[in-house]
Amino acid sequence: MRQCKHSDAVKRMNRPSRLALAVSRPKDGPANIITLGWFMRTSIKPPMFAISVGSTRYSHEILSANRNFVLAIPSVNMAEQTMQCGLQSGRDVDKIKEFNIKTNRGKLTQIPILAEAVANFECKTITQVRSGDHTIFVGEVKYSWQNDDEDIEQLLSIPAMDDRFIELIRKGGFAFGYIKE
Ligand SMILES: Cc1cc2nc3c(=O)[nH]c(=O)nc-3n(C[C@H](O)[C@H](O)[C@H](O)COP(=O)(O)O)c2cc1C
Repeated sequence: MRQCKHSDAVKRMNRPSRLALAVSRPKDGPANIITLGWFMRTSIKPPMFAISVGSTRYSHEILSANRNFVLAIPSVNMAEQTMQCGLQSGRDVDKIKEFNIKTNRGKLTQIPILAEAVANFECKTITQVRSGDHTIFVGEVKYSWQNDDEDIEQLLSIPAMDDRFIELIRKGGFAFGYIKE
């Protein structure tokens, strides 16, 4: 064991990792989607999720004002859309329209759920905590949804050039794919 730069140690724990999409909606305007690597389950009863969102993101602005969000788990069919939602800002582009993201109505609010996701969780933000340059928004799950196709694969962030994985897309230093059978 040797001491090293923080970023070098982080590289050793980083891949493969799960991805999520947080859908939020400003008062006047279309719903927006941000790609997240930093999210976790935080409670069983009631079910809760925490998401960590950078304070410069458009999603941060929306989540601070409208205290509801949908947490969607992307499927392999959403590789391109998940990449684009992580590389572009809703300040510049209507991501749902531009990237042809299929939505369904949810039950909790006007925020849509994502039709091609593996699962969707409609959440109400119950608390938030500043964490350095990010804010952790903790949401209580009010309604949960799963894809009708039970075999649909979950999209993962994967290591470069590793033949245990099928790579679907690579851009901006990120690679997404799934585990080989
Ligand atoms: C694989 C991947 C994971 C990411 N994880 C996070 C994250 O956990 N938190 C975050 O604030 N930004 C994360 N980002 C960056 C945002 O998705 C990105 O800045 C996005 O353009 C912000 O969109 P918005 O301005 O519409 O909110 C990630 C990007 C990628 C590609």
